[in-house]
Amino acid sequence: MDKYVIEGGRRLAGSVALQSAKNSVLPLFAASILTEKRVTIRETPAITDVACMAQILRELGADVRFAGENVTIDSADACCHEIPPSLTKELRSSVFMLGSLLSRFGRALIAYPGGCDIGLRPIDLHLSALKRLGVSISEREGYIFCECGKLCGAEILLDFPSVGATENILLAAVKAEGRTVLTGAAKEPEIVDLQNFLNAMGAKVSGAGTDVIEIEGVKELRGVSYRPMKDRIEAGTFLLAAAACGGEVQVVGVAPENIRLLLHKLRENGCKIHAKNDKITIESRGRLKCNRRIETMPFPGFPTDLQAQATALNASCAGCALIVENLFETRFKYVPELQKMGADIEVRGRTAFVRGVGRLHGASVTAGDLRGGAALVIAALGAEGVSEVLDLSHIDRGYADLRAKLKGLGADIRRVHI
Ligand code: UD1
Repeated sequence: MDKYVIEGGRRLAGSVALQSAKNSVLPLFAASILTEKRVTIRETPAITDVACMAQILRELGADVRFAGENVTIDSADACCHEIPPSLTKELRSSVFMLGSLLSRFGRALIAYPGGCDIGLRPIDLHLSALKRLGVSISEREGYIFCECGKLCGAEILLDFPSVGATENILLAAVKAEGRTVLTGAAKEPEIVDLQNFLNAMGAKVSGAGTDVIEIEGVKELRGVSYRPMKDRIEAGTFLLAAAACGGEVQVVGVAPENIRLLLHKLRENGCKIHAKNDKITIESRGRLKCNRRIETMPFPGFPTDLQAQATALNASCAGCALIVENLFETRFKYVPELQKMGADIEVRGRTAFVRGVGRLHGASVTAGDLRGGAALVIAALGAEGVSEVLDLSHIDRGYADLRAKLKGLGADIRRVHI
């Protein structure tokens, strides 16, 4: 098990090249088995979620090869429709495999998915949408068994804009017979990326990025070589780290409109933001003030995947902040760890009341989930003294080279094997 040892208080300066978006790359891996032709996903981040997804594809019989950052998937010989529980438990995104497995084999057997422990994360919306496309589903002993003669296009209405359900519906409908109209779709930029990827394979999908997506089923999809979008959550994490430490940092590769609310909140904190094309620069000087209120919402609202990092920043600002988590029930589990660093935060249900203490102090803390772990790193970078962040397995799920990138900006951070 590895840990970070961080000496806080260094200003951050410089430019960060962003990785491809985790939440885009994972569904693209799932989409790759929709064709028997070869698919190359370029600039794939070296994160363990990607390694896990590659392992899932191998279990199905696909040949998955890494050449540097490029991954080539050849699923011509894939014949298995079952995903073993050891892999689905590790990675929630394995649920996307339902749509592609059904499209490719007409059958799918998966154990209930895992992922970060941040709430109940039911998959009822996925399953009821698949039923609308002609899938019969039975659930027994923690397994979901899905079967369909053929998939047929349908009108589907999502009660809530679930990112994963929207992506699963796209994957299942893309080769279904006829037309699917999905209303109430999630509008996240990663869904636009999936649409672009599928269309590059010959699919007919339109409307991603709005709440109505239309999919005209096609008979076949071809191979593709594709470079995914950059990671807006990674970008946000670096901007929040720069805000907490002071300094001037530029992130390159993310369109400002993809993290508009975060930029607005950082300006409210007292940071200067310059955003042009795909370059965003933050300047943070002196003591920052708390945001009055941050409330997570589906896109284009404030992303739940930046909630913990924003809370860590607010903990060290002046004033009080109210942080409301609307998407996941238990996404404040990192708060007791921040409290060890001197944070004054009270959690009541889905709301955290933060009283900014000015400066946190170093402590030994444990990362219990991916974004909560990133929040602890931000807190440690801005704190006085030395901190250790234990158990990096969750952070490794979503951030490639976090230590090297932060060190490149001037942080004092070491990775130690224990
Ligand atoms: C995706 C992202 C995750 C992000 C989340 C919200 C990936 C790999 N993961 O997760 O990083 O935090 O979007 O932006 O892209 N829900 C149901 N029933 C369902 C599906 C979802 O009730 O069938 C609920 C969930 O419990 C949760 C909310 O809807 O409360 C949002 O979930 P969803 O948008 O589906 O998130 P994920 O796709 O799991």
